Amino acid sequence: MQIVETIKQVRQIIALQKKRGKRIGFVPTMGALHQGHLSLIRLAKKHSDFVVVSIFVNPTQFGPKEDYKKYPRNLKKDAALCQSAGADLIFSPNVKEVYSKGFSTFINVEGLTQGLCGASRPGHFRGVATVVSKLLNIVQPDAAVFGQKDAQQLAVIRQMTKDLDLPIKIIGAPIVRERDGLAMSSRNAYLTLEERAEAPALYRALQLAVSMVKSGKREADSVKREMAKLLYRDAPLGEIDYIEIVDNEALKPVKQVKKNTLIALAMNFPSARLIDNIIGA
Ligand code: PAJ
Repeated sequence: MQIVETIKQVRQIIALQKKRGKRIGFVPTMGALHQGHLSLIRLAKKHSDFVVVSIFVNPTQFGPKEDYKKYPRNLKKDAALCQSAGADLIFSPNVKEVYSKGFSTFINVEGLTQGLCGASRPGHFRGVATVVSKLLNIVQPDAAVFGQKDAQQLAVIRQMTKDLDLPIKIIGAPIVRERDGLAMSSRNAYLTLEERAEAPALYRALQLAVSMVKSGKREADSVKREMAKLLYRDAPLGEIDYIEIVDNEALKPVKQVKKNTLIALAMNFPSARLIDNIIGA
Protein backbone atom coordinates (compact mmCIF):
# COMPACT_ATOMS: atom_id res chain seq x y z
CA MET A 1 0.00 0.00 0.00
CA GLN A 2 1.32 3.42 -0.99
CA ILE A 3 0.65 6.79 0.65
CA VAL A 4 0.78 9.87 -1.58
CA GLU A 5 0.08 13.54 -1.02
CA THR A 6 -0.19 15.06 -4.48
CA ILE A 7 -2.86 14.95 -7.19
CA LYS A 8 -0.16 14.28 -9.76
CA GLN A 9 1.02 11.13 -7.97
CA VAL A 10 -2.54 9.80 -7.61
CA ARG A 11 -3.21 10.39 -11.30
CA GLN A 12 -0.02 8.57 -12.33
CA ILE A 13 -0.75 5.55 -10.14
CA ILE A 14 -4.40 5.33 -11.21
CA ALA A 15 -3.50 5.69 -14.90
CA LEU A 16 -1.13 2.75 -14.56
CA GLN A 17 -3.70 0.61 -12.75
CA LYS A 18 -6.35 1.42 -15.36
CA LYS A 19 -3.94 0.52 -18.15
CA ARG A 20 -3.58 -2.85 -16.46
CA GLY A 21 -7.34 -3.23 -16.66
CA LYS A 22 -7.96 -2.73 -12.95
CA ARG A 23 -11.31 -1.37 -11.74
CA ILE A 24 -10.80 1.45 -9.25
CA GLY A 25 -12.78 1.63 -6.00
CA PHE A 26 -12.77 4.76 -3.84
CA VAL A 27 -13.57 5.54 -0.20
CA PRO A 28 -13.37 9.22 0.78
CA THR A 29 -12.80 9.83 4.51
CA MET A 30 -11.62 12.48 6.94
CA GLY A 31 -9.44 9.97 8.80
CA ALA A 32 -9.71 9.02 12.49
CA LEU A 33 -10.73 5.71 11.04
CA HIS A 34 -12.90 3.14 12.82
CA GLN A 35 -14.63 -0.10 11.91
CA GLY A 36 -17.32 1.82 10.00
CA HIS A 37 -14.72 3.21 7.60
CA LEU A 38 -13.02 -0.18 7.33
CA SER A 39 -16.30 -1.84 6.33
CA LEU A 40 -16.49 0.67 3.44
CA ILE A 41 -12.97 -0.24 2.33
CA ARG A 42 -13.84 -3.95 2.40
CA LEU A 43 -17.02 -3.31 0.42
CA ALA A 44 -15.07 -1.23 -2.13
CA LYS A 45 -12.65 -4.12 -2.49
CA LYS A 46 -15.55 -6.43 -3.39
CA HIS A 47 -16.60 -4.07 -6.18
CA SER A 48 -13.14 -3.29 -7.57
CA ASP A 49 -9.52 -4.42 -7.91
CA PHE A 50 -7.66 -1.39 -6.58
CA VAL A 51 -9.00 0.61 -3.64
CA VAL A 52 -8.06 4.23 -2.99
CA VAL A 53 -8.82 5.80 0.40
CA SER A 54 -8.61 9.57 0.74
CA ILE A 55 -7.85 11.04 4.14
CA PHE A 56 -8.54 14.75 4.15
CA VAL A 57 -10.14 16.89 6.85
CA ASN A 58 -12.02 19.19 4.52
CA PRO A 59 -12.15 22.76 5.87
CA THR A 60 -15.02 23.90 3.60
CA GLN A 61 -17.55 21.57 5.21
CA PHE A 62 -17.00 22.83 8.77
CA GLY A 63 -18.90 25.83 10.14
CA PRO A 64 -16.90 28.62 11.84
CA LYS A 65 -17.82 27.31 15.30
CA GLU A 66 -17.32 23.64 14.46
CA ASP A 67 -14.49 21.25 15.27
CA TYR A 68 -12.20 21.65 12.21
CA LYS A 69 -9.13 22.48 14.34
CA LYS A 70 -9.61 19.77 16.91
CA TYR A 71 -10.76 17.03 14.50
CA PRO A 72 -8.53 14.01 15.31
CA ARG A 73 -5.63 13.49 12.88
CA ASN A 74 -3.38 10.43 13.05
CA LEU A 75 -2.14 9.31 9.64
CA LYS A 76 0.15 6.57 10.97
CA LYS A 77 -2.65 4.80 12.80
CA ASP A 78 -5.07 5.34 9.90
CA ALA A 79 -2.57 3.95 7.40
CA ALA A 80 -2.17 0.75 9.43
CA LEU A 81 -5.96 0.34 9.58
CA CYS A 82 -6.33 0.97 5.82
CA GLN A 83 -3.71 -1.64 5.10
CA SER A 84 -5.41 -4.19 7.37
CA ALA A 85 -8.69 -3.62 5.48
CA GLY A 86 -7.05 -4.16 2.09
CA ALA A 87 -6.65 -0.61 0.75
CA ASP A 88 -4.11 -0.20 -2.06
CA LEU A 89 -3.47 3.54 -1.98
CA ILE A 90 -3.97 6.38 0.49
CA PHE A 91 -4.34 9.89 -0.84
CA SER A 92 -3.67 12.31 1.97
CA PRO A 93 -3.27 15.81 0.54
CA ASN A 94 -2.73 19.01 2.48
CA VAL A 95 -5.23 21.86 2.26
CA LYS A 96 -3.22 23.80 -0.34
CA GLU A 97 -3.11 20.79 -2.66
CA VAL A 98 -6.91 20.62 -2.70
CA TYR A 99 -7.74 24.33 -2.47
CA SER A 100 -5.18 26.27 -4.42
CA LYS A 101 -4.91 30.04 -4.12
CA GLY A 102 -7.94 31.78 -5.59
CA PHE A 103 -10.15 28.68 -5.44
CA SER A 104 -13.67 29.84 -6.24
CA THR A 105 -15.84 27.04 -7.63
CA PHE A 106 -18.39 25.33 -5.39
CA ILE A 107 -21.00 22.64 -5.96
CA ASN A 108 -24.40 23.33 -4.50
CA VAL A 109 -26.96 20.51 -4.54
CA GLU A 110 -30.23 22.33 -4.01
CA GLY A 111 -33.33 21.11 -2.20
CA LEU A 112 -31.90 17.98 -0.61
CA THR A 113 -29.53 20.05 1.49
CA GLN A 114 -32.16 22.32 3.05
CA GLY A 115 -33.54 20.11 5.81
CA LEU A 116 -32.16 17.65 8.38
CA CYS A 117 -28.46 18.42 9.02
CA GLY A 118 -28.49 21.16 6.38
CA ALA A 119 -30.78 23.29 8.53
CA SER A 120 -28.37 23.52 11.46
CA ARG A 121 -25.14 23.26 9.43
CA PRO A 122 -25.46 25.91 6.71
CA GLY A 123 -22.83 25.46 4.00
CA HIS A 124 -21.90 21.97 5.20
CA PHE A 125 -23.19 20.07 2.16
CA ARG A 126 -21.79 22.69 -0.21
CA GLY A 127 -18.38 21.86 1.24
CA VAL A 128 -19.03 18.12 1.07
CA ALA A 129 -20.31 18.18 -2.52
CA THR A 130 -17.41 20.37 -3.61
CA VAL A 131 -14.68 18.23 -2.09
CA VAL A 132 -16.28 14.95 -3.14
CA SER A 133 -16.65 16.13 -6.74
CA LYS A 134 -12.99 17.21 -6.72
CA LEU A 135 -11.88 13.88 -5.23
CA LEU A 136 -13.97 11.95 -7.76
CA ASN A 137 -12.32 13.97 -10.55
CA ILE A 138 -8.86 13.30 -9.15
CA VAL A 139 -9.30 9.56 -8.56
CA GLN A 140 -11.78 8.86 -11.38
CA PRO A 141 -12.98 5.65 -9.77
CA ASP A 142 -15.39 3.13 -11.25
CA ALA A 143 -17.18 2.89 -7.89
CA ALA A 144 -17.22 4.98 -4.71
CA VAL A 145 -18.56 3.86 -1.34
CA PHE A 146 -20.37 6.06 1.20
CA GLY A 147 -21.93 5.12 4.53
CA GLN A 148 -25.65 5.13 5.23
CA LYS A 149 -24.62 6.60 8.60
CA ASP A 150 -24.62 9.96 6.79
CA ALA A 151 -27.86 9.30 4.94
CA GLN A 152 -28.33 12.88 3.76
CA GLN A 153 -24.74 13.02 2.51
CA LEU A 154 -25.30 9.79 0.56
CA ALA A 155 -28.49 11.22 -1.00
CA VAL A 156 -26.65 14.44 -1.91
CA ILE A 157 -23.78 12.52 -3.54
CA ARG A 158 -26.19 10.31 -5.50
CA GLN A 159 -28.02 13.40 -6.77
CA MET A 160 -24.79 15.21 -7.65
CA THR A 161 -23.42 12.18 -9.51
CA LYS A 162 -26.63 11.91 -11.51
CA ASP A 163 -26.92 15.64 -12.22
CA LEU A 164 -23.29 15.99 -13.33
CA ASP A 165 -23.32 12.73 -15.36
CA LEU A 166 -20.37 11.33 -13.46
CA PRO A 167 -19.69 7.79 -14.75
CA ILE A 168 -19.27 6.41 -11.24
CA LYS A 169 -21.30 3.80 -9.37
CA ILE A 170 -22.24 5.13 -5.92
CA ILE A 171 -22.54 2.35 -3.36
CA GLY A 172 -24.25 2.81 0.01
CA ALA A 173 -22.88 0.81 2.96
CA PRO A 174 -24.78 -0.18 6.13
CA ILE A 175 -24.18 1.54 9.47
CA VAL A 176 -21.61 -0.14 11.72
CA ARG A 177 -22.45 0.11 15.42
CA GLU A 178 -20.79 -0.41 18.79
CA ARG A 179 -22.08 -3.36 20.82
CA ASP A 180 -24.51 -1.10 22.67
CA GLY A 181 -25.98 0.23 19.43
CA LEU A 182 -24.18 3.57 19.19
CA ALA A 183 -23.31 4.26 15.55
CA MET A 184 -19.54 4.41 15.17
CA SER A 185 -18.24 7.92 14.52
CA SER A 186 -14.89 9.65 14.74
CA ARG A 187 -16.64 12.21 16.95
CA ASN A 188 -17.64 9.62 19.60
CA ALA A 189 -14.12 10.10 21.00
CA TYR A 190 -15.15 13.61 22.13
CA LEU A 191 -17.87 12.29 24.45
CA THR A 192 -17.41 12.36 28.22
CA LEU A 193 -18.07 9.11 30.10
CA GLU A 194 -21.50 10.39 31.13
CA GLU A 195 -22.41 11.43 27.59
CA ARG A 196 -21.09 8.15 26.20
CA ALA A 197 -23.38 6.30 28.62
CA GLU A 198 -26.40 8.22 27.31
CA ALA A 199 -25.46 8.11 23.61
CA PRO A 200 -26.95 4.65 22.81
CA ALA A 201 -30.37 6.25 23.44
CA LEU A 202 -30.28 7.52 19.84
CA TYR A 203 -30.36 3.97 18.51
CA ARG A 204 -32.94 2.93 21.08
CA ALA A 205 -35.18 5.75 19.86
CA LEU A 206 -34.81 4.44 16.30
CA GLN A 207 -35.58 0.90 17.43
CA LEU A 208 -38.65 2.17 19.25
CA ALA A 209 -39.78 3.81 16.00
CA VAL A 210 -39.32 0.56 14.09
CA SER A 211 -41.24 -1.42 16.69
CA MET A 212 -44.11 1.11 16.63
CA VAL A 213 -44.28 0.81 12.86
CA LYS A 214 -44.23 -2.98 13.08
CA SER A 215 -47.18 -2.89 15.43
CA GLY A 216 -49.12 -0.74 12.96
CA LYS A 217 -48.52 2.71 14.46
CA ARG A 218 -47.27 4.37 11.29
CA GLU A 219 -48.25 7.96 11.89
CA ALA A 220 -45.04 10.02 11.66
CA ASP A 221 -46.03 12.60 14.27
CA SER A 222 -46.80 10.04 16.95
CA VAL A 223 -43.60 8.09 16.16
CA LYS A 224 -41.58 11.30 16.52
CA ARG A 225 -43.33 12.14 19.79
CA GLU A 226 -42.49 8.76 21.33
CA MET A 227 -38.88 9.00 20.14
CA ALA A 228 -38.53 12.44 21.70
CA LYS A 229 -39.97 11.16 24.99
CA LEU A 230 -37.40 8.36 25.10
CA LEU A 231 -34.57 10.80 24.39
CA TYR A 232 -35.68 13.30 27.04
CA ARG A 233 -35.82 10.45 29.54
CA ASP A 234 -32.63 8.54 28.60
CA ALA A 235 -30.33 11.27 27.29
CA PRO A 236 -30.90 14.39 29.42
CA LEU A 237 -27.37 15.68 28.71
CA GLY A 238 -28.21 15.93 25.02
CA GLU A 239 -30.44 18.36 23.19
CA ILE A 240 -32.49 17.15 20.26
CA ASP A 241 -31.54 19.02 17.07
CA TYR A 242 -34.10 17.19 14.93
CA ILE A 243 -36.14 14.04 14.61
CA GLU A 244 -37.34 13.71 11.01
CA ILE A 245 -39.31 11.14 9.09
CA VAL A 246 -38.76 11.60 5.36
CA ASP A 247 -38.74 9.68 2.09
CA ASN A 248 -35.26 8.38 1.42
CA GLU A 249 -34.78 10.03 -1.98
CA ALA A 250 -36.11 13.58 -1.92
CA LEU A 251 -35.80 13.72 1.90
CA LYS A 252 -39.25 15.30 2.12
CA PRO A 253 -41.34 14.77 5.29
CA VAL A 254 -43.98 12.04 5.08
CA LYS A 255 -47.11 11.60 7.20
CA GLN A 256 -46.97 7.82 7.38
CA VAL A 257 -43.91 5.59 7.72
CA LYS A 258 -43.76 3.39 4.63
CA LYS A 259 -41.26 1.27 2.76
CA ASN A 260 -38.10 3.29 2.12
CA THR A 261 -38.94 5.87 4.76
CA LEU A 262 -35.91 7.35 6.50
CA ILE A 263 -36.16 8.00 10.22
CA ALA A 264 -33.27 10.30 11.15
CA LEU A 265 -32.22 12.22 14.20
CA ALA A 266 -29.47 14.49 15.47
CA MET A 267 -28.60 15.36 19.05
CA ASN A 268 -26.23 17.93 20.42
CA PHE A 269 -24.34 16.76 23.48
CA PRO A 270 -22.10 19.33 25.17
CA SER A 271 -19.02 17.58 23.69
CA ALA A 272 -20.26 16.31 20.33
CA ARG A 273 -23.09 16.34 17.84
CA LEU A 274 -24.37 12.83 17.10
CA ILE A 275 -26.53 11.65 14.20
CA ASP A 276 -28.17 8.33 13.45
CA ASN A 277 -30.88 6.89 11.23
CA ILE A 278 -32.74 3.81 10.18
CA ILE A 279 -34.92 2.81 7.26
CA GLY A 280 -38.25 2.06 8.87
CA ALA A 281 -40.88 -0.05 7.22
P1 PAJ B 1 -16.10 10.71 7.46
O1 PAJ B 1 -16.97 11.23 8.53
O2 PAJ B 1 -14.68 10.35 7.76
O3 PAJ B 1 -16.81 9.44 6.86
C1 PAJ B 1 -16.28 8.77 5.73
C2 PAJ B 1 -17.28 7.74 5.27
O4 PAJ B 1 -17.48 6.77 6.31
C3 PAJ B 1 -18.67 8.34 4.97
O5 PAJ B 1 -19.18 7.77 3.78
C4 PAJ B 1 -19.47 7.94 6.20
O6 PAJ B 1 -20.86 7.83 5.95
C5 PAJ B 1 -18.86 6.60 6.53
N1 PAJ B 1 -19.12 6.20 7.92
C6 PAJ B 1 -18.85 6.91 9.04
N2 PAJ B 1 -19.28 6.24 10.14
C7 PAJ B 1 -19.83 5.08 9.69
C8 PAJ B 1 -20.46 3.96 10.34
N3 PAJ B 1 -20.61 3.90 11.66
N4 PAJ B 1 -20.91 2.96 9.57
C9 PAJ B 1 -20.78 3.00 8.20
N5 PAJ B 1 -20.19 4.02 7.54
C10 PAJ B 1 -19.73 5.05 8.27
O7 PAJ B 1 -18.23 11.70 5.62
C11 PAJ B 1 -17.13 12.22 5.56
O8 PAJ B 1 -16.04 11.76 6.24
C12 PAJ B 1 -16.86 13.46 4.71
O9 PAJ B 1 -18.02 14.23 4.66
C13 PAJ B 1 -16.36 13.13 3.29
C14 PAJ B 1 -17.39 12.33 2.49
C15 PAJ B 1 -15.03 12.36 3.35
C16 PAJ B 1 -16.10 14.45 2.53
O10 PAJ B 1 -15.18 15.23 3.18
